[in-house]
Amino acid sequence: MVVGAGTMGAGIAFVAAQNGHRVVLVDALPAGLERGRMLVAEMAGAAEKRGLLDSAERTSLEARIRYAGTPIGADAATIIIEAIVEDADAKADLVRTVSAQMGPRTIFASNTSSLSVNALAHHCADSARFAGLHFFNPVPAMKLVEIIPAPTTSPATVEMLVRLVEAWRKVPVVARDVPGFIVNNVARPYYGEAFAALGEGIEPETIDALMTGAGGFRMGPLALADLIGHDINYAVARSIHSERQGLARFRPSPEQAELVENGLLGRKSGRGLYDYVSPRPVAAE
Ligand code: NAI
Repeated sequence: MVVGAGTMGAGIAFVAAQNGHRVVLVDALPAGLERGRMLVAEMAGAAEKRGLLDSAERTSLEARIRYAGTPIGADAATIIIEAIVEDADAKADLVRTVSAQMGPRTIFASNTSSLSVNALAHHCADSARFAGLHFFNPVPAMKLVEIIPAPTTSPATVEMLVRLVEAWRKVPVVARDVPGFIVNNVARPYYGEAFAALGEGIEPETIDALMTGAGGFRMGPLALADLIGHDINYAVARSIHSERQGLARFRPSPEQAELVENGLLGRKSGRGLYDYVSPRPVAAE
């Protein structure tokens, strides 16, 4: 079961289904479910186009995912992965209510990017079966998955998660429960410096071209922030900044706050630093 049918939840559900698992993809909003369905269809279409599956396999992959407005069947799930908004209260609430329904062997994992896994584990009906399981965007393409045990997480839970990640043909890395774990700790200043350059009047295209061209990065930091979604990226920045006691290099960017305030969330809203709607996506390739 995957709760939250957004960018990450849909990606995780897709990868699970691609590897033969039946999935219930849950979202509280009908529009969220609709978006999840669309994202899964897009990922399946892209996989078919790349020859990774034929049309019959695509049909059966899509049929392995059921969509639901509530977490019905949580007791029968092998694993529940939550991928809702990056908000400590919302996640705590969800962990509490959904874990109350989980079966005696169900594992509960959170895809949080920045929140304390230990704090979330306290809300789980069985904190020995709770851990962080942090995927990267886009989920079908990104190999690394961070597994973050809380002090209460049992070794058997960690072992199960390692096996699951490997079965999904990804690379598990067990990380410590520190703000940002491994990757977001390193990546925060990467976004921060790019936003600072933007604030100094440098065009996003120039910053991204520099990092992809001279830096050799697959994507520039601003195109990547558009892909992640500025609402999520900004929430993660604020959370890590606060958990790191206001350390300057983790300071959230005012430029990003402004994008969020103006609803320019990136690809998911059709516009962020680049335009994905009209006349054609500028930074799509
Ligand atoms: P998103 O904004 O694309 O999707 C969130 C979904 O959760 C929405 O469809 C919303 O309707 C749904 N939702 C909110 N509250 C809910 C509830 N109580 N019950 C059920 N559904 C609910 O968010 P995104 O980008 O998929 O992020 C989700 C999580 O994954 C966050 O914790 C984020 O930090 C983490 N993450 C995000 C990455 C990214 O690149 N966007 C990368 C890695 C982790």
